[in-house]
Amino acid sequence: MSNITVVGAGYVGLGTAALLAYLGHTVSILDVDAHKIAQLEAGNLPLYEPGLRELLAQVSHRLRWTTSYTEATAHADFIFICVGTPPLQSGQPDLAPLEQATDSIMAHLEDQSLETRRPTVVLKSTVPIGTGARLGQLFENYAARTCTRACPVVSNPEFLREGSALSDSLYPDRIVLGGPGEALERVQALYQPLIAQSFVPPPHLPRPKHCLPPTVVRTTHASAEMIKYAANAFLALKISFANELAGLSERVGADIEEVTHGMGLDRRIGTQFLSAGAGWGGSCLGKDTRALLHTGLDCGYEMPIVRAALQINLRQRRVVFEKLLRHLPQLEGKRVAVLGLAFKPDTDDLRDAPAHDFMLWLEQHGASVVAYDPVAMGRARTEWGHLRYLEAPDALAALEGADAVIIATEWDEFRALDWNNALRRMRTRVLIDARNIVPTPLETPAILEQIGRTALPQSVPESVLESAFLERGS
Ligand code: UDX
Repeated sequence: MSNITVVGAGYVGLGTAALLAYLGHTVSILDVDAHKIAQLEAGNLPLYEPGLRELLAQVSHRLRWTTSYTEATAHADFIFICVGTPPLQSGQPDLAPLEQATDSIMAHLEDQSLETRRPTVVLKSTVPIGTGARLGQLFENYAARTCTRACPVVSNPEFLREGSALSDSLYPDRIVLGGPGEALERVQALYQPLIAQSFVPPPHLPRPKHCLPPTVVRTTHASAEMIKYAANAFLALKISFANELAGLSERVGADIEEVTHGMGLDRRIGTQFLSAGAGWGGSCLGKDTRALLHTGLDCGYEMPIVRAALQINLRQRRVVFEKLLRHLPQLEGKRVAVLGLAFKPDTDDLRDAPAHDFMLWLEQHGASVVAYDPVAMGRARTEWGHLRYLEAPDALAALEGADAVIIATEWDEFRALDWNNALRRMRTRVLIDARNIVPTPLETPAILEQIGRTALPQSVPESVLESAFLERGS
């Protein structure tokens, strides 16, 4: 078993650390944020991720929390770099945290005796193409200067999704490794129990039925980095393609749910990531498509398909809001419920969440906003202090007396709501289902707008309009 240091205690770092410790390794988790480390040591997670708390508790005897590079690099066989690469204003990823991490690692290699075995550096952060090779070169230059052996660098992009991060880590489709051959062998050996699927699954994260062992892709740094961007860009354009078709479906009387189901059954296409709705949010798809476009521009190469995916995603939020305006053109003084704040279900991550834009636009139109999310309310309180809204304790309370509701996130809790009863709590029943989760047809008269399945407004029957706008109780 190996000694591993994981740098960065975010989604990727914590997931990676929990996984490696579960596979039997001793893992030091390093973050420069002392408060975060103190909280983690006390058992308080800085983020919501199903199953993570339980898994970290199960492997706590193999985990160390630290802010000290001296401590974390002293005996490390591997150093996993899992720091964030958030987008800069320009859309390019900010590499400052990565540079800080590599500088700190090198500074601490200097402290070590020249005979000390060099750790393998594993780059998990999503980085611009060329970064892994450049990092390898930096370690080689350092070794030449100090007459020591260089730390080999392996690119090992992460494909986990928030909300199912641990399951994605334990049962991945593929493991991508880029870099020099001998170092690849070492990292591949670390993952052997995953590759063979020979580990006993944690009780709360059972192995899915029909789970196949992952394929190992051994390649160069550049190809490994490109695979990550290509995968996220492709997922992004699947979503945007579905949203583009949704707009046409509304105009020709087709139902996007049936269209994407029908087209997805072609195995060359696949049904996943074709859900039309408010479009993607989160920290990855937007950031990575923008970064890919930048890389293209740096090479003088235009990428119109990726650009269009981004543009459609921006437009889609407007499309949702315009559905509301179509029915309630005067939002001044109206009460609008927003259900779901997180950018997707099973996370409290608010980065680039569509709900944020809806709430901002509602406020700008003079509406009063009542919001509810099953797990992200606390985080919104700290991160969305610039928005004005009331908090509801649950979905039903949010609907009480509301003139309209926007479903921004596809939480199961909202799917399971008894919508026919829930709607009766509203003052006027305008339901903008931006995630296509409300079962149709509704028995309670209401205006229901979904994405790509609602015919254009002129076809809403007058009787439905009238009942939907009846004052409650009248
Ligand atoms: C993504 C990639 O899926 C993952 O492999 C990568 O490592 C990180 O980026 P994540 O951002 O956690 O993961 O979420 P994902 O499940 O991809 O969803 C992204 C967004 O797209 C969410 O807002 C979701 O609601 C939306 N989405 C997803 C759709 O609008 N339609 C779909 O069909 C699927």
